[in-house]
Amino acid sequence: MNILLTGGAGYIATHTCLELLAAGHEAIVVDNYVNSCPEAVRRVEELSGRSVPVYEADVSDRAAMDRIFEENRIDAVIHFAGLKAVGESVRQPLRYYRNNLDTTLTLCETMAAHGVKRLVFSSSATVYGVPDEVPLREDMFCKGCTNPYGWTKYMIEKILGSVCEADPEWSVVLLRYFNPIGAHESGRIGEDPAGIPNNLMPFITQVAAGRLDHLNVFGNDYDTPDGTGVRDYIHVVDLGRGHVCACDYAAKHTGCEIINLGTGVGYSVLDIVRTFERVNGIRIPCEIAPRRPGDVAACYADPSKAKRLLGWEATHTLEDMCRDAWHWQSMNPMGYRT
Ligand code: NAD
Ligand code: WQD
Repeated sequence: MNILLTGGAGYIATHTCLELLAAGHEAIVVDNYVNSCPEAVRRVEELSGRSVPVYEADVSDRAAMDRIFEENRIDAVIHFAGLKAVGESVRQPLRYYRNNLDTTLTLCETMAAHGVKRLVFSSSATVYGVPDEVPLREDMFCKGCTNPYGWTKYMIEKILGSVCEADPEWSVVLLRYFNPIGAHESGRIGEDPAGIPNNLMPFITQVAAGRLDHLNVFGNDYDTPDGTGVRDYIHVVDLGRGHVCACDYAAKHTGCEIINLGTGVGYSVLDIVRTFERVNGIRIPCEIAPRRPGDVAACYADPSKAKRLLGWEATHTLEDMCRDAWHWQSMNPMGYRT
């Protein structure tokens, strides 16, 4: 299939792009580089030995999107483009609602106008809000999100559900990612956050690289085995493979499916720190800090629907995730700017 990746220069999209190319698909990228750079796609081309057409455009620019659909025969779209920083979304809610909703609406209108009706969307475990119980299943009622970013994902899920209800030819897979970490084993592509990282693993790798002094552990008094927050960390290459399976699924089915992509295993902050230290032989100085507002104690997936519908399950271990995250950071201490 020819698959358009919106936000295709980003962290998850570049890893997905490599997996799509390896599975025999063609990829086309559109990105406005608000949180990425052209070098990332150049490295995907280098690793795959394939060329990937890239359009620098905002996905909410209808004329630019029409041009992409006119110049390429597109069979399916994976919609990664979006702003994703939780804290920033609290400070800049309108920017988040505008960007994440407008891109989705414009994309769907463009797809409909060009007769393309297969879509895989980057949703998030954040839509589960504060869970009553774990593991999280797709059919659980989402009582509400804790931040505007989460609400954008929740709203987009509803919009795409309505699109499928109105036109039974559409096929939409809403992938709820848990906590993607790690990098391609080559160390050539990886996560390159702007400024001080919000997320745990890039923060740890920047401490290991000497860019940051120590890790603040946000709370050690949660109701979890060691008191620190528990999450379902998933290797980004496993996540990329999940998208290949979702595209195959969308080609054979219609309607809207919500699917968790996680491992089903929860690890605490201290599990991650200790595993990172052991695998890479680097000490990560830690200080216990207050809980971060909006954090939940534990969040991990029931991934059985992904296995049942997509035939997908995660194969990488936590050791792989820690090793590959550090390999990327140590080879690229300043990210793509090196
Ligand atoms: P990322 O920031 O690396 O990738 C997003 C890409 O979208 C970037 O390249 C950015 O430049 C691009 N973009 C944003 N707005 C755009 C616009 N208007 N037009 C064109 N391009 C635009 O983030 P990521 O971690 O790779 O996440 C990809 C998707 O997965 C996002 O939708 C994110 O919300 C979602 N997601 C991420 C996580 C995570 O922890 N990384 C978890 C769940 C869901
Ligand atoms: C993981 C754990 C922190 C940083 C976020 C979004 C979610 C999804 C994935 C997009 C928590 C602790 C973190 C630090 C710490 N993204 N931590 N010190 O919050 O589970 O999920 O990314 O959809 O929507 O909310 O991920 O990596 O920020 O935190 O102790 O410096 O690490 O408290 O327990 P989170 P995270």
